[in-house]
Amino acid sequence: MKTDKTNIGELFDSISPSYDFLNHFFSLNIDKLWRKKVVKQLSGKKEKVLDIATGTADLAIEIIKQDKAKHIIGIDLSQGMLKKGQEKLDKLKLSDKITLIQEDCHSLSFEDNSFDAAVVGFGVRNFRDLDLGLREINRVLKPKGEFIVLEFSKPRYKIISFFYNIYLNHILPLLGRLFSKHLYAYSYLPNTINEFVYGKDFVERLNKAGFEKATYKEVSFGIATIYKAVKR
Ligand SMILES: C[S@@+](CC[C@H](N)C(=O)[O-])C[C@H]1O[C@@H](n2cnc3c(N)ncnc32)[C@H](O)[C@@H]1O
Repeated sequence: MKTDKTNIGELFDSISPSYDFLNHFFSLNIDKLWRKKVVKQLSGKKEKVLDIATGTADLAIEIIKQDKAKHIIGIDLSQGMLKKGQEKLDKLKLSDKITLIQEDCHSLSFEDNSFDAAVVGFGVRNFRDLDLGLREINRVLKPKGEFIVLEFSKPRYKIISFFYNIYLNHILPLLGRLFSKHLYAYSYLPNTINEFVYGKDFVERLNKAGFEKATYKEVSFGIATIYKAVKR
């Protein structure tokens, strides 16, 4: 049975207080290195960047740290995640450079051809309708606008895959339940990773949604993958 994604906003609202801590804890801080790599993919400094499913704004903050954008709009379904993100922006005095808005990426309020680049970190896996979400991102990008995606994938090597699957499917849900006090959220994570398209299959979906020149690079033995494409 496919994972139910109808109440995604509420799910992330409920884990937002512990999201940052658990994210870094479960990944042993490797998620920070992955985000750094993602931002390095942006060619030059952009005028306006859209960070989709921005959550607590970590990717948007990294873009500013690497001086890759003048202004970023971060959108997310979850008010709880955005609230945590806004607290970080206030602390870092970045509110003039990053604007957070509650929006659903399946129906964005922005005009066609508005952004020079768009990024998504661990967000596409959660879309209710992947093809619709990708088409909508494509719509708001300028022609030749860059699109970078960071998403979990599945390790290629059998031995790594074996241990990773034990961690992902058994240890992580158990620890997640303990720390976040949420019964379902950290079973949702492995379920969506196991179901999600990755590698060549994801590139096909990008092409179908109006992107071209799509390439991808596995990171950390394929636990995650970074995709890069441009709007056709
Ligand atoms: C795993 S978090 C990733 C957050 C952040 N990008 C990061 O790198 O840590 C996934 C986020 O996707 C958001 N999300 C899921 N579906 C969405 C949609 N249709 N539109 C906007 N945000 C969505 C969730 O609310 C959640 O904050």
